[in-house]
Amino acid sequence: MTNTNAALPIDKQPAIKIVAMPKDVNAGGSIFGGWIMSQIDVAGAIPALERAKGRIVTVAVNSMEFHEPVFIGDIVSCYAEVIKTGRTSITVKVEVYSERNPSKKETVKVTEAELTYVALDENRKPRKLPDLETE
Ligand SMILES: CC(C)(COP(=O)(O)OP(=O)(O)OC[C@H]1O[C@@H](n2cnc3c(N)ncnc32)[C@H](O)[C@@H]1OP(=O)(O)O)[C@@H](O)C(=O)NCCC(=O)NCCS
Repeated sequence: MTNTNAALPIDKQPAIKIVAMPKDVNAGGSIFGGWIMSQIDVAGAIPALERAKGRIVTVAVNSMEFHEPVFIGDIVSCYAEVIKTGRTSITVKVEVYSERNPSKKETVKVTEAELTYVALDENRKPRKLPDLETE
């Protein structure tokens, strides 16, 4: 069992930050998992796009763990980083945190996932990743 009480990573910028709204609630009263997955896919695509320097698609969701629910009004931050690259693929880890009561600074790690994206050429076929830029 993951310890989900956590502070936001102070040394990183979230790929996206968004408030969970009433329209995204499921029948049980918490935020619909599909909404969270969508945010994760968008967040994970950002470092993948930066690495691929061009068109990408999601080829796989390798893992997805929902540790804690998200509630209406939570400030949801998705942190995303590239953890592996292949010839044409980029694997990204996404960690999602909810700030539940911003005034109380209650922060919970709610979800984590690993996704793989593939760089595409103009014919939508896998494209070799560009070399890493050296400074
Ligand atoms: C992504 C797509 C172009 C890959 O085509 P493909 O013919 O399977 O390509 P390849 O077999 O050459 O695989 C390309 C890369 O993806 C990786 N890959 C393929 N399937 C994978 C899977 N299930 N999990 C992880 N990686 C996978 C391969 O290992 C390869 O990586 P590498 O080049 O770094 O070694 C094709 O499957 C596709 O268009 N899928 C639909 C994508 C989509 O619409 N996504 C939803 C909306 S974004």
